[in-house]
Amino acid sequence: MSDVSAFNFSAFATRLQTETFGRPLRAYDVVSSTNDLAREWASRGATSGSLVYAEKQTAGRGRLKRNWRSTYGKNLTFSLIIEHTIPPERMGLAVIGAAVSIRKTLDKLYDLKAQIKWPNDVLVEGCKISGILFEAEHTGVNHPGQRRRIIAGIGLNVNQQDFPGDFRTVPTSVSRALGRTVSREQLLGELLLTLEEELGDTQRLNDSELHLRYQQHLKGIGSPVSFRLHDGADRIEGIAAGIDHHGALEIMTDEGMKTFAAGEVGEAG
Ligand code: BTN
Repeated sequence: MSDVSAFNFSAFATRLQTETFGRPLRAYDVVSSTNDLAREWASRGATSGSLVYAEKQTAGRGRLKRNWRSTYGKNLTFSLIIEHTIPPERMGLAVIGAAVSIRKTLDKLYDLKAQIKWPNDVLVEGCKISGILFEAEHTGVNHPGQRRRIIAGIGLNVNQQDFPGDFRTVPTSVSRALGRTVSREQLLGELLLTLEEELGDTQRLNDSELHLRYQQHLKGIGSPVSFRLHDGADRIEGIAAGIDHHGALEIMTDEGMKTFAAGEVGEAG
């Protein structure tokens, strides 16, 4: 692993301009899943903004029971503990907000144009560069304005060049797209700042404002899609019409408009 350059936490700390996101930080070499460690830390009273960072996960996971593979010391794999007031039915918008943050950060730092594939994949030229896994802390109580916590897990491929094995969507990384390696410290600092601003807006703005803001970032709206609720489920064919005010996907089918809060979109055909 001679070509691995260790993450420089003091360089990262000097770049971090957030109010809370990224502080305090628990950094690990190898863990099962940063989401699991963050959940455990949250249950023991971690404050909002706390960050769990790892160079490698042995059981990194994604949506729909898929795994997340990332080479040691090359990329960013982390989980943020975020206290928020977003009601459960609007969580879809917050996930899209996180994807928009990644898109904005890649554009700002590298002029790299990414697309968001509903609900949580960030793609560059059709290849997956980042995935997001939001997991709610279940409290059992549910009333308006209630403060809840979410574990926001993000995997972003940064300096990994080779992706051995089979993948559902071909992966890529920032360095593959740019043809050069980049500073993970700068990227994480900028991304946390953008996430803090964007997810703050997700709590402040109303559904219509967010809907307008987020729908424009999504790939494939207006195009034919083939949709599945989960692996093995029947495919639903139609035209991706947009997202509703809670971030759920609307598909115009032969039987009329259908709305889905979760699932996987593929290209039709
Ligand atoms: C997906 O593509 O479906 C989401 C992938 C999310 C991966 C990140 S890596 C950090 C955090 N820890 C995990 O186990 N998963 C998320």
